[in-house]
Amino acid sequence: MAEANIFPALIAHCKEYGYIFPSSEIYDGLSAVYDYGQNGAQLKKNIRDYWWKSMTQLNENIVGIDAAIFMHPTTWKASGHVDNFSDPMIDNKDSNKRYRVDHLIEGFAEEQLAKGNTQLANDTICEMEKLLAADDFAGLKKLIDDNKIKCSVSGTCNWTEVRQFNLMFSTELGSVAEDANTIYLRPETAQGIFVNFLNVQKTGRMKIPFGIAQTGKAFRNEIVARQFIFRMREFEQMEMQFFVRPGTEDHWYNYWKAERIKWHESLGVPATKLRYHDHIKLAHYAKAAVDIEFEFPFGWKELEGVHSRTDFDLKQHQEFSKKKIQYFDNDLNESGKPYGNYIPFVVETSVGLDRLVLTILSMAYEEQKWNKEDGTEDSRIVLKIPAKIAPYKLAILPLIKKDGLPDIAKKLLDECKQCFHAFYEEKDSIGKRYRRMDAIGTPFCVTIDHQTKEDNTVTIRYRDSMKQERIALADVKKIVEQYTI
Ligand code: GAP
Repeated sequence: MAEANIFPALIAHCKEYGYIFPSSEIYDGLSAVYDYGQNGAQLKKNIRDYWWKSMTQLNENIVGIDAAIFMHPTTWKASGHVDNFSDPMIDNKDSNKRYRVDHLIEGFAEEQLAKGNTQLANDTICEMEKLLAADDFAGLKKLIDDNKIKCSVSGTCNWTEVRQFNLMFSTELGSVAEDANTIYLRPETAQGIFVNFLNVQKTGRMKIPFGIAQTGKAFRNEIVARQFIFRMREFEQMEMQFFVRPGTEDHWYNYWKAERIKWHESLGVPATKLRYHDHIKLAHYAKAAVDIEFEFPFGWKELEGVHSRTDFDLKQHQEFSKKKIQYFDNDLNESGKPYGNYIPFVVETSVGLDRLVLTILSMAYEEQKWNKEDGTEDSRIVLKIPAKIAPYKLAILPLIKKDGLPDIAKKLLDECKQCFHAFYEEKDSIGKRYRRMDAIGTPFCVTIDHQTKEDNTVTIRYRDSMKQERIALADVKKIVEQYTI
């Protein structure tokens, strides 16, 4: 299938096979909000577990926490999100449709690229990045006007001025309106880590450099809702804040930059589909920042950010809370004296779990066609999800529903389900069952047949190669177990 059609086909496949559904679909859905079905939820959990293990179990100096979504409202004043967490927006006066300025201009550049106007596309993006970095809103408006960029709804160029729009959702705490306090739904999980820095450092007797990791929901009132689960209003982040001695932050920034790209590769993402993109315009807290981009079916886009956040956040929380947030470093410096008290610097790794799910699914989705020996055509859709994160590791399929074959299959299921997710299926022909497991992404199928009763062997079928071989029934669990996290 042509590359352009793959993405809609993948979205349809995700729905058909229980991965991802539009939220509250019976009411026609809610824009930029999605629900994970039975297979999607398990895939997401496996990726989260893989991340959690690699951060908190494989690094003895990183611990994990689970902070609440609701936080004291001053948190967001201190962090700068109340004043700075906004995107430049522009409204079309005829359609009243609001656009993120960078998305509007990028859309124009993509159209020019498609028409072969490469130079114009590149110049426009280059100019936009310069103007964004300088917060030059008048310049951005002029760029839109000069290129006669149109609204996709009204088709006109009748634009408002460019304005900032805060992305945080607010709600009220307390049941009585008069007593209510406005609080925010967190737009990043990181602040839950910063406000717990001292709690964790002291109770865990953590010595610098050390990290605190967390996974959890974040909320942003994204104006442009597009590209499926790539940009959502409710999404999940997996973040790690690494606290370091001031002056060593560049070393750790480079270290985590390299580590994180290696981690994506360890998950099966090919190196050719990953690249770095340095930020020109830095967030209000950052000294340096890089995106790890993945080549999604709709182009290269951010998957993860690695940020050198300086001591900005801890310093701000110290100032706003009036509590001393410092670390006493009793290691000796070159003059033989302890480094003493300081506010640590922070290097952050922040990856969107939903974007990782989309990365894995877009990498895994394949439509295959081939000629059989008799000359007829055969085809399948297969999700080549790496076995260690596949929702089901194994399908157990009795060839027929009688002759004691289901009993052997269920006995195997009982043994396997203690260790990993196994799927039992006895309906339909074996060929149809294999196809269904391919579409779900189950890496191994075993078929229990009459020979099993004679010699205790089964046929194992490998999803990616479709190769089949005979193995001992007693070895099935051991073989599949290697692929658990
Ligand atoms: N704490 C830093 C931070 O939040 P960010 O670059 O704004 O940095 C980090 O977000 C990651 O969160 C992104 O790389 C992306 O994977 C994910 N993310 C951000 N906004 C998202 C959205 N609206 N929908 C899905 N994922 C999102």
